[in-house]
Amino acid sequence: MFIGASGKGMISFGSGQPDLPPPKEVFSCVATPEDFKYGQIAGQAYLRQALTKEFKGSTKDDFVITNGASEALDLVFRAIAKPKDNIILHTPYYYSYKPLVEMNNFTPLYVETHQGKIDVDDFEDKVHKAKAVLINSPSNPTGRIQDIKTLKIIEKTTKDLDIPLISDEVYKDMIYERENYMLSGNHVVTINSFSKTFAMCGARVGYIYSNDKSIVEKAIELKTHTSMNTNILAQKMAFYALKAPKSFVDSQVKVWKKRRDIIYNGMRGLGLDVWKPEGAFYILPKIKNPHDFVWDMFKKHKVITYLGEWFGADNRVRFSYALEVEKIEEGLKRVKKYLDRN
Ligand SMILES: Cc1ncc(COP(=O)(O)O)c(C=O)c1O
Repeated sequence: MFIGASGKGMISFGSGQPDLPPPKEVFSCVATPEDFKYGQIAGQAYLRQALTKEFKGSTKDDFVITNGASEALDLVFRAIAKPKDNIILHTPYYYSYKPLVEMNNFTPLYVETHQGKIDVDDFEDKVHKAKAVLINSPSNPTGRIQDIKTLKIIEKTTKDLDIPLISDEVYKDMIYERENYMLSGNHVVTINSFSKTFAMCGARVGYIYSNDKSIVEKAIELKTHTSMNTNILAQKMAFYALKAPKSFVDSQVKVWKKRRDIIYNGMRGLGLDVWKPEGAFYILPKIKNPHDFVWDMFKKHKVITYLGEWFGADNRVRFSYALEVEKIEEGLKRVKKYLDRN
């Protein structure tokens, strides 16, 4: 009900899409008649070739270009899941993970986290019962990143067990605290997207990167009979986006970090229990009676927030800070008003 809701005076902390513009290079993309024909199911060769620069030792045949990370995740789950297989997810999780894995016959096995950080002992206990692992760092909805030590343990354990490690890296370029540690290895399936890094959510371009030929081939076979090629013009725009200088991403990260500081310090000032976001653009405070909060904030204070329970965090509420500083500050004032009255 909240997705796309707007209106006079409404402040939305709901949306998971950057409000910043895409790189100007995208607008140099010119359509030609060729762009209106069917294209390769794996994706346009020029885009896959351009992506090899981001992954050392890769070839263009290791990629499948998809309709966003969403289709990439769906294809990978479909390619590897067998009925009743368990897949490890860490809580809180991106709200589409649960329905997506369940639609594909996987049973989610939830690993505990402390302030958004994976409990390694719990992971090591449960991983032996799983046929795949899904990691999302930085995370939607916590904004937390996993420690490099933890990521290395997960990388090695899944390699030793010879099970796929699916790494959803859609926020990999939005980290404030350190460089990203990209999970890698022949058993790792990387999921990424142009939606967040390049602020191109509506273009719907993402990809799978894997050295496992059987996963790549199965994904292409499934895509052949479902969505066929990803939109060619959007792929061309994605190709142009990759031409943007590194300063484009750096300048966006600066904006996110400033907003992170404002919302994090603001929430702490209101006495809320929050974990400091280290990446992405979400914060997940603990809130008493989250249902009442989300509803009253919407109806009485014109503020949109998302229930933590959609993300497997029952006593929390997700705020996206993909909006201007003035709106974040005004939104926080309204949250204060609510908290003072309740
Ligand atoms: C963790 C995560 N994975 C995947 C997606 C889907 O992204 P896309 O727009 O590329 O389909 C999102 C979108 O919010 C996300 O937060």
